[in-house]
Amino acid sequence: MSRAPLRIDVPCAPGLEPVLESELAALGFEELLTRPGGVSGQASRDQAARACFALRTGLHVQELLADGPIESPQELYELCARVDFERLLTPEQTLAVTASIRNSALNHSGHAALVVKDAVVDRLRDKKGKRPNVDADDPILPLRLSVINGRARLYRDWAGTSLHKRGYRPIQVKSPLNECVAAGLLLAHRLPPEGSLLDPMCGSGTLLIEAALIATNTPPGLHRSFAAERWIDVPHAVFPAAREWANQQARASDLALEGADRHAGAITIAKESAERAGMAGRIHFQVCDVKNLVPRTKPEVVVTNPPWGERLDDDPIGSWNALGKFLKAHGRGAHAFLLSGDAELTRHLGLKAKGRFPIEIGPISARFLHYEVHADRASPVTPPQET
Ligand SMILES: C[S@@+](CC[C@H](N)C(=O)[O-])C[C@H]1O[C@@H](n2cnc3c(N)ncnc32)[C@H](O)[C@@H]1O
Repeated sequence: MSRAPLRIDVPCAPGLEPVLESELAALGFEELLTRPGGVSGQASRDQAARACFALRTGLHVQELLADGPIESPQELYELCARVDFERLLTPEQTLAVTASIRNSALNHSGHAALVVKDAVVDRLRDKKGKRPNVDADDPILPLRLSVINGRARLYRDWAGTSLHKRGYRPIQVKSPLNECVAAGLLLAHRLPPEGSLLDPMCGSGTLLIEAALIATNTPPGLHRSFAAERWIDVPHAVFPAAREWANQQARASDLALEGADRHAGAITIAKESAERAGMAGRIHFQVCDVKNLVPRTKPEVVVTNPPWGERLDDDPIGSWNALGKFLKAHGRGAHAFLLSGDAELTRHLGLKAKGRFPIEIGPISARFLHYEVHADRASPVTPPQET
């Protein structure tokens, strides 16, 4: 049976749109259109399911259900009530609606979400004689409403929870790097390389685990489930087939990956996460202050996310300073990529950046800075300059 392609919109961290566009093109998505903070395109259900497993930078796989201008809650209700929800959901199943609103006559996202919920519930009651319930925690049908400049778009979210939730982190950790951002920064710089990669302040190991997943071409979503697996209009074979495809993607890699952090607790979490991601044998972790770190393998690439002063006891200036000294002592000839959310702190590295890649991480405008650690310029310390 031939079906019209789905219209899919995938959001990402602003700055990573070109990476996401390449990922979607590789998955066979067509008619790609890039906007700030996301990429949209057309795909089959099989491609949408594969995207759930394979996307590294995309945060959600959102299928467009309704799209139109609205000026009032009533117009929003009418737009949504036209969707044949009885095809998507039984009255015994559950739904939840999240909404975001920008520059619109409607100004309360909670109210807009309620209007959408009413439209779905009323339509099912009319068509099936019974209404579905809301389950905010684990809905079968997660709906997402976006209203920007008076234009409403209603989506259903194939993944359910954000794709940064890979399923490999055992517990929520303090100041981790978002997995989609970590993967996107690596891919944007054609990392990891073949040789060796070190994260000397690896925390819970996100950059290393994502690098291992990329190097081995392992789809990051293999360890989680997706909302669309429970949908009545998605044939039962679609997700098992996509999972089988995802399982066949892995390839061999000789990349040597090494991580260190001065906090033993962080290294314990990093090891557990790597284990769950199936990457434990590929990454060597150790508890060590960067001041004393001697890498097992000379790193060709150093990539890290040093502290930005989010915790007062971290002494972030000392950390950046020690990292600079480490790079000059052990990173000669290497490329270093450092994520910084605070230009003032970055000065304490004592090196001049060659490239600056802007990335929005939540409310923070951060930079992924590229340094070439030249042997001839490594010592004495380059005076702090514009970074
Ligand atoms: C922003 S966190 C890194 C988060 C990490 N990318 C993740 O995904 O979990 C910064 C890390 O730098 C580590 N750190 C700070 N100063 C250090 C030093 N002198 N030596 C080693 N690790 C250090 C902290 O313990 C912390 O785990």
